[in-house]
Amino acid sequence: MIFAGSETIAWTLEWAMLNLLNHPEVLKKVRAEIDTKIGFDRLIDEPDTINLPYLQMIVLETLRFYPVAPTLDPHMPSDDCMLAGYDVPRGSMLLVNIWAMHRDPSIWEDPEMFKPERFENEKQKQKLLSFGIGRRACPGIGLAHRVVSLALGSMVQCFEWQRIGEEYVDSREEPMTLMRPATPLLAMCKARPIVHKILVS
Ligand code: HEM
Repeated sequence: MIFAGSETIAWTLEWAMLNLLNHPEVLKKVRAEIDTKIGFDRLIDEPDTINLPYLQMIVLETLRFYPVAPTLDPHMPSDDCMLAGYDVPRGSMLLVNIWAMHRDPSIWEDPEMFKPERFENEKQKQKLLSFGIGRRACPGIGLAHRVVSLALGSMVQCFEWQRIGEEYVDSREEPMTLMRPATPLLAMCKARPIVHKILVS
């Protein structure tokens, strides 16, 4: 649980921040959503995240574009079976390349673009495989959504964020079983007035 729930959440958050820095218009839109719905007198809390649909869409789009478990966990059938028309003998190791499925243009419109708005259509969610599917799917899905949304929402609410230079942040992936950015994210941040207000009170 600790292994499966720590780096997955941390790296999803890192990918989400990286995408916000490379898409300032998305960052601006989510900040406006948080400021409008939460105001400037209190910090965002877990129950708020459900009323922040654009924040949720950013989390979903991050999970689509950069699924931290790009081939899920290896699965091994205990009996011979047939899968997608292929005979799979008992004991074979099966890896599911969801990274490729999430970028398949026959499944997603403009798959190479970071576009949270695609999840305005609720049905798109059903195509996400970032947590696997079926009996061995991730049991931490609910917790992961809550923690990532709350952490990301807090970072946006409390700080102004900027890239450290003019150029886009490097979004290449480290080729590992769990996928993080090849270059650890560096960013500039400045506390927003709400931080001073909360600290003083
Ligand atoms: C963004 C966060 C997370 C992602 C993307 C993620 C993704 C996944 C994936 C893809 C699997 C394998 C599913 C399969 O092979 O079909 C998995 C399994 C698992 N995850 Fe997560 N996970 C996340 C967070 C968490 C959290 C927060 C917990 C618990 C605190 C957790 C606990 C587990 C456990 C125990 C398994 C093994 C389940 C089994 O083998 O039956 N995960 N996760």
